[in-house]
Amino acid sequence: MKKSLLDYTLRVRLPLVVFVAAVSFIATYYLSRAERDGVGYAPVQPVAFSHKLHAGTMRIDCKYCHTAVTTSPSASVPAVSICMNCHSVARKNKPEIIKLTKYYEEGIALPWKRVHKVPDYAYFNHSSHVNRGIDCANCHGQIEAMDVVNQVSEFTMGACLKCHRSAPETLSNVPGIKKGPEYCSACHR
Ligand code: HEC
Ligand code: HEC
Ligand code: HEC
Ligand code: HEC
Ligand code: HEC
Repeated sequence: MKKSLLDYTLRVRLPLVVFVAAVSFIATYYLSRAERDGVGYAPVQPVAFSHKLHAGTMRIDCKYCHTAVTTSPSASVPAVSICMNCHSVARKNKPEIIKLTKYYEEGIALPWKRVHKVPDYAYFNHSSHVNRGIDCANCHGQIEAMDVVNQVSEFTMGACLKCHRSAPETLSNVPGIKKGPEYCSACHR
């Protein structure tokens, strides 16, 4: 009697408890991941804009819309007027384009939800990376394959430093690339 109870505990209850604990740990790990380091964050946007369609299928250059990416710290998100270069004609009767046109005509900036963000106390500069020949995909993944933008890399201090230390090896496709800075005041100014 006692033996079979112990047997039951070992063979059934214990694996069950371990299984439940493991599942809830894994679930919490992935569910809270977007909040913890941003990876996997893909907010629903006010207009269903697709990079896959525009930057992938239609091959519109990233810089046509993200105009500041080679000239300033921020990459910038395009004003509705850039969309209207095409959408005052293209697909103008579709519901999403009617929505877009309404923002344009009322002069309201589209409230796009921010996906990637480093805290204000850390300094990041697009132009100094992009002009050095580092491709968007090294940090943002294959944006041209995404219908909804999704954060694929961590932007923690550890992740910045990891690339800075290993740049000559990991970015060996970029001619003459050197290590990025590791001294505190480079990123905390
Ligand atoms: C036709 C205009 C257009 C083109 C071309 C375009 N984008 Fe965008 N991009 C946008 C808009 C609008 C948003 C904001 C809405 C969203 O996140 O989908 C955005 C958002 C992003 C974001 C997320 C911004 C954030 O909030 O963190 C990244 C990263 C990005 N684009 C990279 C790229 C890359 C890389 C390319 C080229 C492969 C590209 N984009 C081409 C219009 C464009
Ligand atoms: C260079 C021209 C061009 C620019 C710039 C452009 N688009 Fe488009 N867009 C198109 C074309 C063409 C289509 C239709 C493609 C298809 O369905 O094959 C389209 C499709 C769309 C659709 C899907 C419409 C539907 O069929 O329901 C949305 C939404 C959209 N664009 C939003 C935007 C937004 C927002 C911007 C600005 C950030 C933008 N577009 C900039 C050319 C452009
Ligand atoms: C070395 C890594 C890196 C590269 C390369 C890079 N980005 Fe970013 N990107 C970031 C980081 C980090 C942020 C968040 C910046 C912040 O919060 O100030 C960001 C944010 C953005 C945003 C949000 C708006 C903004 O201005 O911050 C857009 C849009 C964007 N990137 C587009 C691009 C495009 C397009 C390219 C290529 C031409 C590119 N990025 C190359 C790291 C990178
Ligand atoms: C994919 C690799 C990569 C990632 C990721 C990356 N960097 Fe860099 N970064 C570099 C390289 C390479 C350089 C040196 C470029 C040069 O001058 O040759 C650099 C240079 C810099 C510089 C000095 C240039 C300037 O603008 O003052 C700063 C600051 C910087 N990075 C901040 C950051 C921060 C903050 C992050 C994380 C949010 C980050 N980087 C992520 C590769 C990277
Ligand atoms: C390549 C850029 C870079 C360098 C160099 C760098 N940091 Fe950071 N640091 C960041 C970024 C980005 C964050 C915000 C993201 C995060 O919390 O990981 C950060 C966050 C921090 C934080 C807040 C951490 C937290 O958990 O809230 C501290 C403290 C800090 N850094 C100290 C330092 C010190 C000290 C040095 C020099 C030994 C240094 N950093 C060098 C980019 C950098």
